[in-house]
Amino acid sequence: MNNNDAIGIFDSGVGGLTVWSEIKKILPNESTVYYADSKNCPYGSKSKEEVIQLSEKIVQLLIHKGAKIIVVACNTATAAAIDYLRAKYPLPFIGMEPAVKPAALHTQTGTIGILATEGTINGRLYKETRDRYAAKCNLIVKVGKGLVELAEEGDSYSEKALEAVKKYIKPMIDGNADQIVLGCTHYPYFIDEIRKIIPKTVIIHNPAPAVARQTKNVMKSSGLLSQAASKRDDIFYSTTNDGKLKFILKTNFHIDAQVLFV
Ligand code: DGL
Repeated sequence: MNNNDAIGIFDSGVGGLTVWSEIKKILPNESTVYYADSKNCPYGSKSKEEVIQLSEKIVQLLIHKGAKIIVVACNTATAAAIDYLRAKYPLPFIGMEPAVKPAALHTQTGTIGILATEGTINGRLYKETRDRYAAKCNLIVKVGKGLVELAEEGDSYSEKALEAVKKYIKPMIDGNADQIVLGCTHYPYFIDEIRKIIPKTVIIHNPAPAVARQTKNVMKSSGLLSQAASKRDDIFYSTTNDGKLKFILKTNFHIDAQVLFV
């Protein structure tokens, strides 16, 4: 591994770009290799074994492309595969964790809304975090069925998107939640729509900035920070050839990037 190698980042699709963009903000001089497995998206309803298999294939490609650290920018893949990946591959892995801890610290009403995929909710990580930090809280947990697909289509700012989030978020608000945890990296695309239907006092927790800070800290302590003095390359791979990743990069992140089909 070399300091000037890249940060490998992957997700079942475009969701991990919400983490990628936070990483770029605080580590602008790092190269990145992003892999969107849109062909196999969504991961949320797949078995643990299947998600491990898909994740491992991606990790092997990212290592082959020169990743020095890998960010599993997908809550579902973290829940299913990070233990396996850490045990098998020598480089550091950073994973996603639903932001239950900050939500439990901030709640005034004692009620927290959690929106995540089935795979994340059923995973050990979520259950442990919940039991450790939110044992005294009332949790309203919803599986955001259909949201990942809408985000993949780039359809997160529309009447349809608003209706879709309303179905999950309204019961949380009606149940007196004052914190909403976004437990899937595709969900931050809906933040504007979510804000339309929640009181201003409700806090939305997107763990992406904290995961970016954690990535930086681990790179620093492992001596992996780039020595480059200027901006480096970003490479994007997608398992679909439909221009969706390119479209999302352009519309949401104002980046005109080439996306390579794998
Ligand atoms: N972005 C993934 C996550 O954070 C999406 C899950 C899916 O593909 O269902 O969980």
